[in-house]
Amino acid sequence: MTHQEFYQKRIEAQLESILPASNQQPKALHKAMRYSVLGGGKRVRPLLVYATGEALGIATELLDKPALAIELVHAYSLVHDDLPCMDDDILRRGKATTHIAYDEATAVLAGDALQTLAFEILSPPLAGICAENQLKILNILTTSSGINGMVKGQAIDLAAVGEKLTEAQLETMHKYKTGALISASVLMASYCCDSLSGNNPPKTKGENEPVEMDIHKKRTQLSAYAQAIGLAFQVRDDILDIQSDTETLGKQQGADIAAGKPTYPSIMGMTAAKEKLFQLHKKAVDSLQDFGEEAFLLREIAEFIVKRIA
Ligand code: IPE
Ligand code: IPE
Ligand code: MG
Ligand code: MG
Ligand code: MG
Repeated sequence: MTHQEFYQKRIEAQLESILPASNQQPKALHKAMRYSVLGGGKRVRPLLVYATGEALGIATELLDKPALAIELVHAYSLVHDDLPCMDDDILRRGKATTHIAYDEATAVLAGDALQTLAFEILSPPLAGICAENQLKILNILTTSSGINGMVKGQAIDLAAVGEKLTEAQLETMHKYKTGALISASVLMASYCCDSLSGNNPPKTKGENEPVEMDIHKKRTQLSAYAQAIGLAFQVRDDILDIQSDTETLGKQQGADIAAGKPTYPSIMGMTAAKEKLFQLHKKAVDSLQDFGEEAFLLREIAEFIVKRIA
């Protein structure tokens, strides 16, 4: 089992056990929640939580709750993104979208409930994480989900249908709608410890050994990494909408063009969009230059994000 598979298995098991049982009332809501979350999805955001934890030497158990919470918020965002009033898509993760498999009202409620479940999981005291850090974690997730994050990006996206955006406007839209939750995954993980300043106070080693970076410097570098891969993730998503096929994607190929959505390839052309992706990958990797082997999974994820085929 690869490292990524280990964490993917871990998050699957956690999601399975945290979601309400489908034989409990109201059954349709619970079934729709399970349907929307389980059995598909690359789990990139939880992987980023675990990978950041590895880079900072944080125990895996401390990362489980933020990993769960971010995937639940992401799953909710997809359920609502697919609704007829938004992108009006019928296929997601190779299955009918939630409003098709159930109905619109159930899909809206399943999305609502997934979102609030994320905060229900994160708000009770978290063993091994001090109260100040827990508040910071909650603040990161709320900020990146709402009017200063994903929801803002989705609103810009809907208003941009049929419009010709500048590259700067497109970048802003992508940073909010996709980048915000990706950055949150990395930043939340960096607070999964027991003191506000972090788990690694600066240490002076032997005379010729490098001084270990303090947590603030590490967080600055992780944040730069996250911003680069967050944007790269959506640039790749835009490219795949054109270059992939429905079966591989598990969602309708060509949906952006059909809906008149401005995307990186539609605005700057495919070659320039791919060059942008290459530059963002370089920026992400360069941001981690002061990290050693402990950041190998973060580097692996950056490569996966720019090369992924689905
Ligand atoms: C799709 O996200 C929506 C975007 C932000 C582009 P993912 O590509 O991470 O979707 P899943 O979770 O793997 O299905
Ligand atoms: C969705 O962006 C971003 C979200 C916040 C869900 P897209 O609309 O491009 O995602 P897909 O292509 O439907 O997965
Ligand atoms: Mg959308
Ligand atoms: Mg969509
Ligand atoms: Mg898309």
